[in-house]
Amino acid sequence: MCGIVGYIGRQDAAPVVLEGLTRLEHRGYDSAGVAVLGSRGLRVAKQAGRVRDLTDALPRRFAGTTGIGHTRWATHGPATDANAHPHTDELERVAVVHNGILDNSAALRAELTAAGVELTSDTDTEVLAHLVARSDADTLEGKVRDALAAVVGTYGLAVVHADFPDRIVVARNGSPLVVGVGDKEMYVASDLAAIVRHTTTVAVLDDGEMATVTAAGFSTLRPSDLSATGKTASQVDVDASAYDAGEHESYMRKEMLEQPTTAQAVLRGRLDDRFGTAHLGGLDMDARDLRAVRRVKVLGCGSAYYVGQMGAGLIEELARIPADAEAASEFRYRDPVIEPDTLYVAVSQSGETIDTLLAVQEVRRKGGRCVGLVNVVGSAIARECDGGIYLHAGPEVAVASTKALTNMFLGFALLALQLGRVRDLSIADGRRLVAGLERLPAQIEEVLAGEDDLVEVARGLAEARSLFFIGRVRGFPVAREGAQKFKEISYCHAEAYQTSELKHGPLALIDPDVPTVAVVPHDELTERNVAALHEIAARQGPLVVVTHEEVDLGEVGARRIVVPRNEPELDPILLTIPLQLLAYHAAQHLGHDIDKPRNLAKSVTVE
Ligand code: F6R
Repeated sequence: MCGIVGYIGRQDAAPVVLEGLTRLEHRGYDSAGVAVLGSRGLRVAKQAGRVRDLTDALPRRFAGTTGIGHTRWATHGPATDANAHPHTDELERVAVVHNGILDNSAALRAELTAAGVELTSDTDTEVLAHLVARSDADTLEGKVRDALAAVVGTYGLAVVHADFPDRIVVARNGSPLVVGVGDKEMYVASDLAAIVRHTTTVAVLDDGEMATVTAAGFSTLRPSDLSATGKTASQVDVDASAYDAGEHESYMRKEMLEQPTTAQAVLRGRLDDRFGTAHLGGLDMDARDLRAVRRVKVLGCGSAYYVGQMGAGLIEELARIPADAEAASEFRYRDPVIEPDTLYVAVSQSGETIDTLLAVQEVRRKGGRCVGLVNVVGSAIARECDGGIYLHAGPEVAVASTKALTNMFLGFALLALQLGRVRDLSIADGRRLVAGLERLPAQIEEVLAGEDDLVEVARGLAEARSLFFIGRVRGFPVAREGAQKFKEISYCHAEAYQTSELKHGPLALIDPDVPTVAVVPHDELTERNVAALHEIAARQGPLVVVTHEEVDLGEVGARRIVVPRNEPELDPILLTIPLQLLAYHAAQHLGHDIDKPRNLAKSVTVE
C-alpha cells in the first residue's frame, strides 16, 4: 500500500528518498513521486510506474537537502502521473504526500473549486496541499493544523513548504508514521523498512499526533493547540539485514525458508515442560482472568483470518471454550454484541491493517477485552490492544505471508495451552503438546527439505483454469489458506471448500481439467476424507493430497505429498507448509513477480 519517505539533513535528499521508496516497493504501488526543497525552491517529479522509472526520469539538478517521497496505491482516481504524489498547491510552494483516505474530500474539492482553485488531480490528497497553502497561520505547523482541522479521514502525511525549508511537518491519524534520528539528519517514513539502513533510533507517532522534523531533531505536537507531546526516540531491536533478500531469488522464498528458525523464536521462553503449559506475560491476564473467559472471538483479515480459524479450533479443542474466528473487515458493520466474558483476539502480521484495527476499537469502545497476536512491535493494533503475544517472526517483506502466519498458529497454540491448563486440560495433555511444539521447528524444516519433489506438482496445478482446495474441520482453514496463497501469487482461480460440502454443490465442477488439492491428515476423519477423494476420482478429477504416511488412499490415483505427524491438534501448520511451496512454484512457473502480486499490498491501511 502507499509508502512515505522523507529526509532532511546535509545530503542530497532525492537519492535517499528514492532508495527508501524502493524498500517499500514490495508493499504494492502503482505510481511514485518525490519533492525536494533546495536553492531553486520546491521541485517535484512524479509519475505512474516504478520507482526505477522515476529515478531514471529525474530532471537534472534536482537538488535539495529536504525531501519527501511517496509510492501510491490508487484509491481516488486511476494510476496517472497527475494523481501520483506529492501534490502541490497552485503556486507550487507546498508539497504533500499522504497515506490513508480523506472521507470529506469531495466536499472540500467542491469548496476549493468554488473559491477559484484549479485542481489538477482526481485525488483526495490534493486538497491538503491547497488547504495548507491557503492557511493564514504564520508557521508551517499552524498551516498543517488548519488543514487537518478541515479534513475527516485517515492519514499519515508529510508536508514541505518553500517558505519553511528547514523542516518537514508530519502527522498521523490511522496510518503509520515513524521519525528516524540520524547524526544531524533526520528521516520520516511510513514503515521502518524504508529507513532501517540509516537508523534504528525512531519515534513512532501516535494517532492524533504531529511532529516537526528538522535536521537537528524533532518535536511532537498535539494538532489541536500545537502543544508539545514530548515524545522521545528509542532504539528498536531490528537487524537491517533482515530486510534484504540476500542470496534468495525472492523475499517469499527467504521467508518460507526462515520458518524453522522463526518458529523457535515465538516459542522461546514461553513453554513450561514441568507444568505442561505456556507463559504469556504480555497477555497481562492472571489465572483468574483466564478462567473468567467464557468465549473467544478471533478477528483478522485474509490469511490472518484463516489462521485465526485454526487458532479458534485449537482453543476450543484444548481449552473447551467456545471459540470462532470472524473476518475483522465485516465485524463492526454488523453492530456486534460485545460480551464482557468474551476474550477478543486480534491477529495481524503488520499490526496496521485498518479493518482489524477498527474491529479492535469497536470491541474496546464497547468495553470488551481485546488481546493481540501481532508481529510488528509497537504497531497500531499492538498499541490498541489490552495485551498480547508478539509473534517474533522478524520483518516480513513479501506480500504473501508465510512465516508470520506460521507464528500466528504457534501463538494460538500457546494461548490455547495456557487457557486449557487453567481449566481441564490435563498435565499429561499439556506436556504432550509442549513436546509437540518443541518438535515442530525441526518438522517444518523436514517439510521444506521436500521442496524439490513439489516443483512438478506445482507446475501441473499452475496450468489449471480453476482448482479446489478441500479439507475438513482442522483441515478446512488449511485448505482456505492454501487456496488463498495459490490465487494471490499465481492468479489462478482457487476455491476452498469443506470436503463434506463438495457433494452439496461443487462436485458438479469436477472434471479432468479441475484439480483438487485435498488435506487429509491421519485423524478421526481420514476414512470420510478418503471416501470424498473417491467421489472426485470417479469424475476423473486430478488429485493432489497432502497427507500422512499412515493414510491409505486406496486406488484414487492421487499425487501424495507426505508431511511428518505431530500431535493432531498441531498438525494443521505442518499441512500448510507444502501449500505455500505449491503456490510459490506455480507462480514461479508462470513467471509472476512473486513478492509483488498485482493489485495487492502488504499492509492494507485503508478500508
Ligand atoms: C495473505 C496476506 C493477506 C494478509 C491480510 C492481513 O498472504 O498476506 O491476506 O494476511 O491482509 O494482514 P495483516 O496480517 O498484516 O493484518
